[in-house]
Amino acid sequence: MEPKRIIVGVAGGIAAYKAATVVRQLTEAGHSVRVVPTESALRFVGAATFEALSGNPVHTGVWDDVHEVPHVRFGQEADLVVVAPATADLLARAVAGRADDLLTATLLTARCPVMFAPAMHTEMWFHPATVENVATLRRRGAVVLEPASGRLTGADTGAGRLPEAEEITTLAQLLLARGDALPYDLGGVKVLVSAGGTREPIDPVRFIGNRSSGKQGYAMARVLAQRGADVTLIAGHTAGLIDPAGVHVVHIGSAAQLKDAVSKHAPDAHVLVMAAAVADFRPTQVQTSKIKKSADPDAAAPTIELTRTEDVLAGAVRARADGQLPNMRAIVGFAAETGDANGDVLHHARAKLQRKGCDLLVVNAVGENRAFEVDNNDGWLLAADGAESALEHGSKTLMASRIVDAIVAFLQSGSG
Ligand code: CTP
Repeated sequence: MEPKRIIVGVAGGIAAYKAATVVRQLTEAGHSVRVVPTESALRFVGAATFEALSGNPVHTGVWDDVHEVPHVRFGQEADLVVVAPATADLLARAVAGRADDLLTATLLTARCPVMFAPAMHTEMWFHPATVENVATLRRRGAVVLEPASGRLTGADTGAGRLPEAEEITTLAQLLLARGDALPYDLGGVKVLVSAGGTREPIDPVRFIGNRSSGKQGYAMARVLAQRGADVTLIAGHTAGLIDPAGVHVVHIGSAAQLKDAVSKHAPDAHVLVMAAAVADFRPTQVQTSKIKKSADPDAAAPTIELTRTEDVLAGAVRARADGQLPNMRAIVGFAAETGDANGDVLHHARAKLQRKGCDLLVVNAVGENRAFEVDNNDGWLLAADGAESALEHGSKTLMASRIVDAIVAFLQSGSG
């Protein structure tokens, strides 16, 4: 991505220390970052830290370097403003259009996408004043991230934690790549997402797994939640990914556990996104003790008999057709394909869409450094009505946001 000019605003909350990592990650991605803290933020983290990490001077008020008119220029010149953490007070001041320090003045002059990453105590987050302020900012086109749930400043836990720095920078990069704000258009929509690979036990120490990292499915859950959906993520094995903020995560191991979790949550869901790499076969017998090799090197190797697992996606399509999922409006499958003597990737994908009967199929070509374990991806989106579109190469988060655009269009078209 082209280097961009990013303003990182930092408000006065304990999570201000995490802003240092956000600045670090954005500068490492090649962007030019200027940190604009509030006076209270500097009670938590010193200006020297932000100056050293950003390579730019740090001021809080509008009376420094007045000849350069920073209170107008920073906002005007920025490609993105990220406020992390955004306290309840900062959100209120942004809503009121205050301009009594450099950060709020910058927010008033910015014409680029603006993203707030709130962090505060649960009571403050759910207070009607904050709820209305967040709704107002979203209505004005700002992106206000859903906070994470978990440990807060003291011993208490709940919603209001600042999302992890990596999550904030991932979404910041998404806004830069999209060039527009992420719409908040999935309020009231319940989405069930599966992600990662299943593991089928052979014995207490071994399993049959696959190369899925879970990145694409996690990116789907993250983008859906930040667009307002109520997301449950059924997570198989992943490459140590952090749980997306604002998402209810259910961890599973085997294909049978994944199927049970989908069966439990699907009746509530309006949308099912099957991004998990589900094993098609499992060992028929799971050995209760570890399989030992024989002392005789010439002895025959053990044979593991396999049994087909259930096709969860096809099962959901059938259940909907049988009237068991009356809420379900869109079922999305994923396919990782290779071309072969019988046809190319798209040929196989079209046949899979027919076979599975889902509404949308996301198709990736698999190969050396493609699709699995990598951060970038591309592919195609096939719809049951025959529409086909290419998904441009980009981060898995950008891919997810394009796929979510298509899901929203499908729901709005009345097909779903
Ligand atoms: N899938 C599923 N249950 C399975 C296997 C796959 O729900 N037991 C879902 C995946 O989550 C994905 C889609 O089906 O959304 C396609 O997965 P893929 O492995 O490509 O399809 P298969 O039916 O296994 O086809 P293939 O013969 O190409 O392996």
